[in-house]
Amino acid sequence: MRIFAISGSLRTGSYNTALLRAAEHVAPEDMQFDHYDRLADLPAYNQDLDGDDPPAVVTDLRDRIHGADGVLIATPEYNYSIPGALKNAIDWASRPAASSSLLYKPVALMGAAPTNFGTVRAQLALRQCFVWIDAKVVIKPEVIVFRAQDRFDADGNLTDETTSAMVKDLVTALRDLIRG
Ligand SMILES: Cc1cc2nc3c(=O)[nH]c(=O)nc-3n(C[C@H](O)[C@H](O)[C@H](O)COP(=O)(O)O)c2cc1C
Repeated sequence: MRIFAISGSLRTGSYNTALLRAAEHVAPEDMQFDHYDRLADLPAYNQDLDGDDPPAVVTDLRDRIHGADGVLIATPEYNYSIPGALKNAIDWASRPAASSSLLYKPVALMGAAPTNFGTVRAQLALRQCFVWIDAKVVIKPEVIVFRAQDRFDADGNLTDETTSAMVKDLVTALRDLIRG
């Protein structure tokens, strides 16, 4: 089972990128993670570029999601919503709508932030996107890693056992959704 993992943060020390690494660590052995590392290379979405010959980096994104059984997203929220770079990737991946890489794709969401409510609004906004896209989003558990600085060590390892168990429940729910 192949999981396309994408972080909404480009920051080197990102809690969200670290959360994806933690998810891979606790996931059942039959889940193989493809960690996306080309978020910053994607051009801003432009329908004029999205014809028969889209940019190679876009084709790579779409092929990797098409080839995955499910998608796992970890994102912060920027100004109460989805970080622009992540939304841009979703916009590229969502086209062409009738055969998009995200159509009917099982998707799970989680997020980490140093604040008390961080990522709640970004996750809600993502859920709205996936209604239009017609992706299949895991409803529960909701994984909202607030006060992230208390749950990761200086090397970005998730040290909080409760959070670790929640992440494990989420990837297991994604696995169940993929299996149908
Ligand atoms: C442009 C910007 C906007 C932000 N907006 C919010 C916000 O709306 N709510 C919030 O809880 N944190 C906000 N933050 C703080 C982020 O939660 C924090 O920087 C977090 O660590 C980013 O995630 P990362 O560690 O994965 O990079 C914002 C940060 C930036 C850079």
